[in-house]
Amino acid sequence: MSLENLKKECLGCRSCSLCESRSNVVFGVGRENAEVMFIGEGPGEQEDIQGEPFVGRAGQLLDDMLEMIDLDRSKVYIANIVKCRPPKNRDPLNIEQDACSHWLKEQLRLINPKIVVCLGRISAARFIKDDFKITREHGQWFIKDGLMVMAMYHPAALLRDSSKRPETFEDLVKLRQAIRDYCTDTY
Ligand code: URA
Repeated sequence: MSLENLKKECLGCRSCSLCESRSNVVFGVGRENAEVMFIGEGPGEQEDIQGEPFVGRAGQLLDDMLEMIDLDRSKVYIANIVKCRPPKNRDPLNIEQDACSHWLKEQLRLINPKIVVCLGRISAARFIKDDFKITREHGQWFIKDGLMVMAMYHPAALLRDSSKRPETFEDLVKLRQAIRDYCTDTY
């Protein structure tokens, strides 16, 4: 199965009740064989309207963060834990995350990145460990199923609290170093 075919299937998904209120499924965007994959939480209003992840204010900041370390959307892949917008941007429920998880699993299998960056606590709790503490454990490397995984503050959290930005810059520098050490064709 190709990523394009997986996307076609995903666009018709009705595995949880988020399908009732969505305008668009937000599958993911970026390079098909990316070595670095970013995983957010779930689509917000703009993402639901446009069908692309991280296109609202938080997405603008994510683009700025990528640019700081010479990355852009064409060099990485960006996806979310849930592919449909939770009403009023509430946290996705466990039942919704469970129903959606097979799409992300397949995306990871097909893209086969070397490095995964979880954006925010919800993504890190799902991907790294249930009791992940974003304030204490952001910027640390974990190995999950042979992948290097790090969590950073979610860009929306950085918009709410700019005092977290210097720490996030340090995390980005660590990411850049890992890309230099372990990736062959990201830059
Ligand atoms: N927040 C997320 O976690 N994902 C998006 O795609 C947009 C905002």
